[in-house]
Amino acid sequence: MTVYTASTTAPVNIAVSTLKYWGKRDKQLNLPTNSSISVTLAQDDLRTLTSVATSSEFPEDKLWLNGKEESLASERTQNCLKDLRNLRQELESKDDSLPKISNWKLHIVSENNFPTAAGLASSAAGFAALVVAIAKLYKLPQPTSEISKIARKGSGSACRSVFGGYVAWEMGEKEDGSDSKAVEVAPLSHWSNLKAAILVVSADKKDTPSTSGMQTTVQTSDLFQWRIKEVVPKRFEEMKKSILDKDFTKFADLTMKDSNSFHATCLDSYPPIFYLNDTSKKIIKLVHSINEFYGKTVAAYTFDAGPNAVIYYEDQNESKIFSFLYKLFSKVEGWESKYSQETLGAFEQQFDSIKEKIQFQLDDELYKGVNRIILTKVGDGPQDTKESLVNAEGYPKA
Ligand code: DP6
Repeated sequence: MTVYTASTTAPVNIAVSTLKYWGKRDKQLNLPTNSSISVTLAQDDLRTLTSVATSSEFPEDKLWLNGKEESLASERTQNCLKDLRNLRQELESKDDSLPKISNWKLHIVSENNFPTAAGLASSAAGFAALVVAIAKLYKLPQPTSEISKIARKGSGSACRSVFGGYVAWEMGEKEDGSDSKAVEVAPLSHWSNLKAAILVVSADKKDTPSTSGMQTTVQTSDLFQWRIKEVVPKRFEEMKKSILDKDFTKFADLTMKDSNSFHATCLDSYPPIFYLNDTSKKIIKLVHSINEFYGKTVAAYTFDAGPNAVIYYEDQNESKIFSFLYKLFSKVEGWESKYSQETLGAFEQQFDSIKEKIQFQLDDELYKGVNRIILTKVGDGPQDTKESLVNAEGYPKA
């Protein structure tokens, strides 16, 4: 039997939107109430690997996620598969030499390279990888922005994960969503020294899922109306400019303000939605204190729909920031895999050399609210890979 296969990796862009997507004008098509921007993170640290196979012999579409068979029944997934099959069918109808595989069933096998338990599993990476892998299997000629519209139907934020570097999701105006797509603001190479430290904050209970949370906000928050009409449109242009200018100060201020604005609309929702916990709030204060200490903006925080903090900084300021972060979080997992004992010792020395001048209180217990630190940086979009999760018969490798 003939089995066609393809594999791709896709980056995880969870918790790294710098201008937040929050609110839909169309639930079915995942059309947003505002444009948004995100930074794609390097895949050495956080990525999804997805392999797909198709054969005339497969009786049904099937999905295996991190070794477990999962349902493909959700309307969102079905919408993605339908769009991809339609594009393939178009190709087949124009070119007789192409194998007619658009009606064959698909096997999709997907794995994350980070523990799901870390609280970082994301539908964004999952849908981006799924859509890109099938687009590759079908040899679809559409540009990446077109493919992003399909990923958008899976999960709004997934549309930004099909590009690397700095990515905008233009909200569009049309009712059918044909102009609501991701575009590259700048490639990774344009501003490659941007780094991110993710503090994985322990959550005691499950957060409100973003899909329903944003629905509550749209329906009940007055502040939200102000945000989408007056705040975000201006900020969208300013943030794009700050990226093109590689103006960290501007980028950082906008990122922090937009994170705060998003969480303010959550609090203004009724009943209110709380994503930040006490640890998150202490991290916010810490970042402002560090910036104040150095007399300039060297670090920026952002939080998505959960308590995890992402702290952005430029490589040249790393020791400035890590003298504080290593002092406070040396006990949490994640440093040793990235830095030698010598470098870590240097962060400690740097802290000792400035500690007399520190005017603010450092909370020695802050690390207790943090599970691990992930040290990463801006990265590439989905990549071709020789690795495959499926065998010659198109089933998951044991
Ligand atoms: C807070 O993309 O998960 O991360 O479109 O309903 O699947 P659905 O929502 P999702 O929402 C992400 C919201 C956010 C902000 C952002 O990514 O910009």
